[in-house]
Amino acid sequence: MEWPAQRATVPAAPLSPRTKELKTHMDKKTLIENLNHDLAEELSAVIQYTTYAAKTTGPYRPQLEQFFLAEVPDEQLHAQFLANKVVALGGEPTTTPNPVKPAKTNREMLQAVLEAESRAVIAYTQRAEEAGEFGDVGLKVQLEDMVRDETGHREETERILRDWPL
Ligand SMILES: [Fe+2]
Ligand SMILES: [Fe+2]
Repeated sequence: MEWPAQRATVPAAPLSPRTKELKTHMDKKTLIENLNHDLAEELSAVIQYTTYAAKTTGPYRPQLEQFFLAEVPDEQLHAQFLANKVVALGGEPTTTPNPVKPAKTNREMLQAVLEAESRAVIAYTQRAEEAGEFGDVGLKVQLEDMVRDETGHREETERILRDWPL
């Protein structure tokens, strides 16, 4: 069942290539391109969390470093799933990550993480719909699982930033 009122509150998504052309049918080539776009984001997330963890400073450094490092296995598993799915569909998985947003302070890093996780929630929500249009229910379910993961990351980061003192 659709809930149009709720769907209308979702912010405008930064659509991946060719998503705007979507009508009712998702072809395999476009789905592969879009999954590769997501894979580039996940590879970027692994780099982002690994390097940001190293860059944390101040009295909260131990907690913040652990918080960032704890995200790495999730993102790595997402990347692994996407690479496998691209191959299963007959495509070539990208090895090029998207650029990581530069950030100097703890707050800037947390804000960049919040942006990246918010993008991921929007992207996988869109991708799950595309997988449904393509007729791959298994992929749709997996992508919805990933929406749940990324929503958890986003909410945790938002709560840390809510009372961030510096
Ligand atoms: Fe992820
Ligand atoms: Fe994430």
